[in-house]
Amino acid sequence: GPSEARTEDEGRRLGHGGVGPHDHDRPINQSLFFSPMRGTRHSLLNQPNHFHPDLKSKPTQHSHRISAPPPPPPIHTPTPPPPFQPPPTPAMTGTIANGVAAPTAPGLREKAAAAPLPEELAPEVVEGEREIVLGRNMHASCFAVKEPDADDEFTGEREATMAGVLARYRRSLVERTKHHLGYPYNLDFEYGALSQLQHFSINNLGDPFIESNYGVHSRQFEVGVLDWFARLWDLEKDEYWGYITNCGTEGNLHGILVGREVFPDGILYASRDSHYSVFKAARMYRMDCVKVDTLVSGEIDCADFGRKLLENKDKPAIINVNIGTTVKGAVDDLDLVIETLEKSGFKDRFYIHCDGALFGLMMPFVKQAPRVSFKKPIGSVSVSGHKFVGCPMPCGVQITRLNHINALSSNVEYLASRDATIMGSRNGHAPIFLWYTLNRKGYKGFQKEVQKCLRNAHYLKDRLKDAGISAMLNELSSTVVFERPKDEEFVRRWQLACEGSISHVVVMPSVTVDKLDTFLNELVEKRVTWYQEGKCQSPCIAADVGQENCLCTLHKT
Ligand SMILES: Cc1ncc(COP(=O)(O)O)c(C=O)c1O
Repeated sequence: GPSEARTEDEGRRLGHGGVGPHDHDRPINQSLFFSPMRGTRHSLLNQPNHFHPDLKSKPTQHSHRISAPPPPPPIHTPTPPPPFQPPPTPAMTGTIANGVAAPTAPGLREKAAAAPLPEELAPEVVEGEREIVLGRNMHASCFAVKEPDADDEFTGEREATMAGVLARYRRSLVERTKHHLGYPYNLDFEYGALSQLQHFSINNLGDPFIESNYGVHSRQFEVGVLDWFARLWDLEKDEYWGYITNCGTEGNLHGILVGREVFPDGILYASRDSHYSVFKAARMYRMDCVKVDTLVSGEIDCADFGRKLLENKDKPAIINVNIGTTVKGAVDDLDLVIETLEKSGFKDRFYIHCDGALFGLMMPFVKQAPRVSFKKPIGSVSVSGHKFVGCPMPCGVQITRLNHINALSSNVEYLASRDATIMGSRNGHAPIFLWYTLNRKGYKGFQKEVQKCLRNAHYLKDRLKDAGISAMLNELSSTVVFERPKDEEFVRRWQLACEGSISHVVVMPSVTVDKLDTFLNELVEKRVTWYQEGKCQSPCIAADVGQENCLCTLHKT
């Protein structure tokens, strides 16, 4: 399948092992993405801030003791983020037109919004099962692009038609937002103050810490946000490098790439429950990849990890550690992963990337949760910005150690910048949205939201079980896993993500108890028809959620 790891033979056939990571004759000064560097093996353990329970890298900065339960946030963060400054009243940007203000006949736009759409612009909706046919594009729904008629500009017809399409689309977004539960996106936000910036083409191309010649950028916001995240994960300003990515996937691609550059002949290890972007990275970089088994919770099985390490003792290890898996919200035990590596003889020969796309910004605010920290021997952490944080566009944050990047980067004359990012042009609006939300909420705000999510997730899990529905909720998670609803239409209505016999709801700040109640009531009502009042049985999902969470006829007590 698409997430299958490349076999060693296939890898060799396609060039891995001959050129690429092992090509020691390549010039050093090439771009990060396409030119694997020679083996600059940086021992993470040589770094001054290497984690030790009793070691405080800068005593004045980190006052809590490791043996005590983690104190509530702010954790390790003596300097709170700067107080929130209300943004100035929107400036006039009238000379920069975005088309919205183009003149139309008065009232035409409003009339058009209510009118039915011309046939060629009406979306074609395909009912019933949505099948995926490889090699064929599904045009389930499409707003056609039509050449303007000669007199359109004069009559304003085209303008009105487009306004109608947009108004209908907006209505559908309102409805879809109301019935969204399955993806880990916080849809509860208010960014009105930033609308004044939509007229600018803000682009942070290149490196956040090196000015490029393009002046319409937002690096000042980006660096502020990166400093915040570096502090959250215990890296000093002069020790980290990072950038605001396009998404969690890009963070994984970057983290694994840095790992591969640090250990060019390293093998990538990732649990089976890792996000598919991790296996995509293995394919893109033509790395050997070993899939590690998981426990029922979805957490990496370190016994299996240890066994697989021993089978490949001669090659360094690059490990993806999940801080919240996609389907079950399971958090891999970072400390146990490190212990397993060291016990298996990999001391100084491993690189850990932490995929915190989903839970990376929630876990620091969960009491008793283990800490993701650069005081431990990890190489990089990434998180998505449009998930828990609630940015209205896909984005993410990637933080790694500066010494890795210094070893990898090269100069690119065109940008007068170094080339350590995966993308070239980068969304300059995203850092401003992140900056805005971090300032508004602060640690206290995030902590409150995390608590609310966890409370509501427990509420959902308990109510599902009360209704006789098999359900599981991992201890550190707000992802509630339950039996896959029998009816695809119901799945689509609530935008649930399903895998095999299970489905999940990811409780984000926008998922209120009211919304959960509506969902639960509908589900319970539908199940009566699906299972014909007990005449046929609901499925057994013990293999996915454990016997103790399965309420099928065999397992309910
Ligand atoms: C664990 C995990 N990693 C990575 C990703 C990819 O994140 P993005 O969708 O931001 O690319 C996801 C997405 O859900 C995820 O759950």
